[in-house]
Amino acid sequence: MQIVKTIQELRPIIQGWRKEGLSVGLVPTMGYLHDGHKSLIVKAVGENDRVVVSDFVNPTQFGVNEDLSTYPRDLERDAAVCKEAGAALVFHPEPEEMYFPDSCTFVDMDSLTKGLCGKARPTHFRGVCTVVSKLFHIVAPDRAYFGQKDAQQLAVIRRMVRDLDFGITIVGCPIVREADGLAMSSRNAYLNEEERKAAIILHESLALGEKMLEDGERDGAKIREAILGSLDREPLAKVDYVEVVDAETLEPVEDIHRPILAALAVYIGKTRLIDNFTFDAFK
Ligand code: PAF
Repeated sequence: MQIVKTIQELRPIIQGWRKEGLSVGLVPTMGYLHDGHKSLIVKAVGENDRVVVSDFVNPTQFGVNEDLSTYPRDLERDAAVCKEAGAALVFHPEPEEMYFPDSCTFVDMDSLTKGLCGKARPTHFRGVCTVVSKLFHIVAPDRAYFGQKDAQQLAVIRRMVRDLDFGITIVGCPIVREADGLAMSSRNAYLNEEERKAAIILHESLALGEKMLEDGERDGAKIREAILGSLDREPLAKVDYVEVVDAETLEPVEDIHRPILAALAVYIGKTRLIDNFTFDAFK
């Protein structure tokens, strides 16, 4: 497995694969890989001849007071995870490689990015769309793999690929959870022991909402209130948002009769965690 740091080195390698008629999968990540990322890589390896994992903490998707400087990084460990999962190449550029100092072109979106995480992080999805577009241009994969844990990001990228004719198949992959139900995230590393225990309230509260839907509840407000009520039981949890939205448009839903996404962002101490579930099992 190769580790490549520049676009100039990467392009001929991919062109070489293309000449051999090989298919290419891309798994975009910000590194500090966990089993959730690994599941994306393994899936990509099963569906493509060669898999590129990008490992880049993208500065443009962090707000000014967010955790860009403290975001955990460990290239050596990441490379071992990628190799074990069967990736052919890790692309690990420096920020200067990805952005010119006077870079002034961004990819932005009018809808889908204003609600949910976009409310507290107004420039986040512009950064995500920009870097993912750049990675799509650099790697030109057949397929790209994203986790359902970042449900809004997945919906945004699907829409961007549709609207801008990228011609890349976007593959969404299920959330991978710790044994107690906490969704895997690189940011879980910020939690101390007490916070780590408290963090299971996210999944527990969502599970309550999911059960209500399974039992036939179709009122979005009631499901949202039940999730909020459950989160309220945990003193370390401070809610950013809980929303029940249409799975495709991400618009709030009151009367549920189409696939929905129930999503939340909650601070546990200083750490902002997200989780969600989708529901489409209508009888
Ligand atoms: O999901 C992530 O880790 C990032 O948002 C992504 C898609 C790699 C873009 O930097």
